[in-house]
Amino acid sequence: MSVKKVLFDTDPGIDDAMALLFLARAPELELVGITTAMGNGTIEATTRNALYLRDRFGLNVPVARGAGKPLVGEASVPPTWVHGENALGDIEIPDVVDSTLHALPAHRFMIETIKQYPHQITVIAVARLTNLALALREAPEIAGLLKEVIIMGGAFGGHGHTGNVTPLAEANIIGDPLAADEVLSAAWPVVVVGLDVTQQTIMTTSYVQELAAHGGNIGEFIWDISRLYADFHQSVGMPDGFYVHDSSAVAYAIDPTLFSTTSGPVRVVTEGFAVGHTIQSKPGAWGDRPSHQVCSTVDSPRLLELYRSVIIAAGR
Ligand code: BDR
Ligand code: CA
Repeated sequence: MSVKKVLFDTDPGIDDAMALLFLARAPELELVGITTAMGNGTIEATTRNALYLRDRFGLNVPVARGAGKPLVGEASVPPTWVHGENALGDIEIPDVVDSTLHALPAHRFMIETIKQYPHQITVIAVARLTNLALALREAPEIAGLLKEVIIMGGAFGGHGHTGNVTPLAEANIIGDPLAADEVLSAAWPVVVVGLDVTQQTIMTTSYVQELAAHGGNIGEFIWDISRLYADFHQSVGMPDGFYVHDSSAVAYAIDPTLFSTTSGPVRVVTEGFAVGHTIQSKPGAWGDRPSHQVCSTVDSPRLLELYRSVIIAAGR
């Protein structure tokens, strides 16, 4: 089995933390670094959470702090009603985690790592795409040096899913639409894992209870952080459980056969009432804008079984 080296760009975040632990314990993947983004919390909060997760679960990789605001404008107000005041479901964590950060900012750490391992790095980006866009602006040559970019973001109308912040926009994309459009305009292999598939997969209460019972300290931690997340989903009308956003991007890296994809160029609306809307067209439709893959269907039972098996094996 060839193991993929992964850089994880993240705004932890409840589902980010769940995805990070899945990634770190999956034998098919090797986590080589964590870069932080604002979104589910301020950059201070998400960076503290990344350091906390790294130390608590012995992940032993560099954490590099990312941009505190989007390419244009200011950071949006963190969704405390979804991820909590501390962005980790309001479990107890110290305000300041006494741990070391990498000396480089996230985008430079990305460039350095991609150049250190040419054609070997998969970036899994599950937050605003600001860090990736900055890396691309500073070193456009990295587009030819990456193995793959897997993005959790966007919504293309599949299965009726069009947005979760506005009727036309998903959170990671609307949080920095220009960065998303720049990342999607580059000629590197990109796979977009949007709401079309992430909202097709649901972790129910009994599913998470099983993780807590058999997944050791990771399973118990997942239960603890996800209570507030489940409450939020119930408050917006979901009878039981919550969507599987960021872990779906990790699942794609482990086993792409869980998904079907469509190919074509992708653009992001960067202003106006439809800001943050993602659109895919036919290959060649928009001049030389490269085609990327957008996930359109997912085998949810198999994805849930994959996640379960990784967490329960980690708990043995
Ligand atoms: C995405 O937005 C964030 O709140 C989640 O962590 C996920 O990356 C879902 O729209
Ligand atoms: Ca996220």
